[in-house]
Amino acid sequence: MKRKILLLLVLGQVLYIGSVAGQKMIYKDSEASVEARVKDLVSRMNLEEKILQLNQWVSGRNLNPNNVGKVVQNIPAGLGSIIYQNDNPIARNQIQKNSMENSRLGIPMLFGFDVIHGFRTVYPISLAQACSWNPDLVTKACAVAAKEAKLSGIDWTFSPMIDIARDGRWGRVAEGYGEDPYTNGVFGSASVKGYQGENLSDPYSIASCLKHFVGYGESEGGRDYHYSDISRQSLWETYLVPYEACIKAGAVTVMASFNDISGIPATANYYTLTEILKERWGFDGFVVSDWNAIDQLIDQGFASDRKEAGYKAFMSGLEMDMKDNVYLDNLAELVAEGKIPMEKIDDAVSRVLRIKFRLGLFDQPYTPVVDEQSRYLQPESRAIANKLAAESMVLLKNDAQTLPLSKSFKQIALVGPMVKNKESLIGAWATLSKADDAETIFEGLNNEFGNSVVFNYAKGCDFDGNDESGFKEALEAAQKSEIILVCLGEKKEWSGENASRSSIALPDVQEKLVEALAQTGKPIVLILSNGRPLELNRLEPLSDAILEIWQPGVAGGSALAGILSGKINPSGKLAITFPLTSGQIPIYYNMRQSARPLQGKYQDISTEPLYWFGHGLSYTAYKYNNIKLSATKIRKDEKLTAEVEVTNTGALGGKEAVLWFISDPAASITRPMKELKYFEKKEINAGEKMLYRFEIDPMRDLSFPDADGKKHLESGDFYLIVNNQKVKFELVD
Ligand code: GLC
Repeated sequence: MKRKILLLLVLGQVLYIGSVAGQKMIYKDSEASVEARVKDLVSRMNLEEKILQLNQWVSGRNLNPNNVGKVVQNIPAGLGSIIYQNDNPIARNQIQKNSMENSRLGIPMLFGFDVIHGFRTVYPISLAQACSWNPDLVTKACAVAAKEAKLSGIDWTFSPMIDIARDGRWGRVAEGYGEDPYTNGVFGSASVKGYQGENLSDPYSIASCLKHFVGYGESEGGRDYHYSDISRQSLWETYLVPYEACIKAGAVTVMASFNDISGIPATANYYTLTEILKERWGFDGFVVSDWNAIDQLIDQGFASDRKEAGYKAFMSGLEMDMKDNVYLDNLAELVAEGKIPMEKIDDAVSRVLRIKFRLGLFDQPYTPVVDEQSRYLQPESRAIANKLAAESMVLLKNDAQTLPLSKSFKQIALVGPMVKNKESLIGAWATLSKADDAETIFEGLNNEFGNSVVFNYAKGCDFDGNDESGFKEALEAAQKSEIILVCLGEKKEWSGENASRSSIALPDVQEKLVEALAQTGKPIVLILSNGRPLELNRLEPLSDAILEIWQPGVAGGSALAGILSGKINPSGKLAITFPLTSGQIPIYYNMRQSARPLQGKYQDISTEPLYWFGHGLSYTAYKYNNIKLSATKIRKDEKLTAEVEVTNTGALGGKEAVLWFISDPAASITRPMKELKYFEKKEINAGEKMLYRFEIDPMRDLSFPDADGKKHLESGDFYLIVNNQKVKFELVD
């Protein structure tokens, strides 16, 4: 029976293709509209060709062009996409040539890769970028990454990651833009803009990919790939917010996440992949699975075998299968059995082809070949990386103006495992970067300070382990010096995928090194390079100043040196809360109020985090004048303008990001204590002032979604919160 259906199907296809074969090939006409080209091409494709387009393989790391022949033979000409783990445009063009010339219809391949925070010019990890509060600079950095990637053969990046993360034990907190929905939406959109440019078919534009859709950061206990219990209310008011913003910003692909969303894995979740993404938001791109995620539906207990996994994923609205060949092995049979309608196959193929046409791949399938020197690490690219690294760094503590370093210092101890480390300065997910492109902290400081200072270096200890034998040398360096810079942090492998940690404290040996150095009585500047919020409650009292540099990328050393010397005034503010201890997790700024605000505290520790979201110091001081409102009462169809004047009362110019929060104290669904609704960063010269304005749009800024995403705008009192001011206004019907 099955064979008969299959035969009839093939026969029907052959007849139908024959009937259109003679017509003009609209899909090859670059003047025709994308939709006309998509429609024409799909009408010419047979089932096998359609299914091939819905699959993505991995092209191994092949830096030797001589092997291209072997790699090309392994990749079927009509395959939809490959993850191209290579920076060689020649090899890429050979694979593409095979697609264009050896497939019946000459459909170009789509080359994807994880360009997460730079390609070769690696800039700070995304969590750090958010602390810059400078989305325009992030757009510039992503445009550099897109150009370097495009010239290396990549058309599509699996970025930006916009998973809200409130649990630092989860290694992937490094890859997103922190704990706030609005912040993830703004920086995700800025990244999409940088990657995709004005037009997706521009020479240096690449397709973006929003990931991981959705709620991945809620994985239980910070354990990667685990169950995420997310209510519909939380889904709409927290996790979907950045995705809706980035879809509106024009993102053309989405990657489904590994996690199980309250019983229905994201990889096969009709509600998120079809109802929300396509029917509610009108998304016309395509969804790719994460690595082997369709096959993993079996492990998750959602499918009994690969065929059922393929059926459930495909019917939920997941168009492309990354790596595990579940679609390649099963879709044809499912169509033959009538379980998957051809219209659904055609819709999926149309979505993939639409992006290929928009990218211009049919008309420009090949990468222009330019040499590495002109492809990577251009001076203007490094300058952007340096600026973003400096603006991402957060001055957490600075007692008695310990920083910037006094010009009187002649001997400075420079201690710790991060001082000469390059790999961890680069951070996770920079797999085609080269650590030697990075300037170490040691190099950056010596370049900045030259002969004016002697840096007494000692490694002191490794990142972990219990070898304290290096403490002696560190203490000797400290004894000779007037101040101690101790550079600690995390290995890059401790962040990123499959990098969960039960504690967000640094390993004991690093803490013990600081304890030993504190015995000298010399001032200590703690410099941290890490991919997650850290537990610093034991180190904070021992440190006179604390500077969070994150994993700042190739320019980390010089950016840090600029801040330590005072050439750069730090302007970063935390985009994620630093808990006092791992035991406080989850703790985040936009929590709900407790039923008993004065009770419900921990008995053993403070219930306050060490540093809240938004914390960050400067070398200068900013005075916020009183917030001015254009009215204290507005109707729902009116706007309210809020202004605040900020004066730089210090002697040093700087940049100040003003964060505007809204609080809705009483509503038909409880609201977070406050929610970030707008931010703006401006340069303010010493002694001068700048006016910051926020125009409140009630439907955008005062409404909230219910459990099915319906927006509610309710009259009543609201508060506007800026810095430490809180002003009330009323919304009336
Ligand atoms: C990984 C990651 C995802 C990445 C993909 C391709 O498993 O979860 O973020 O884009 O596979 O490398």
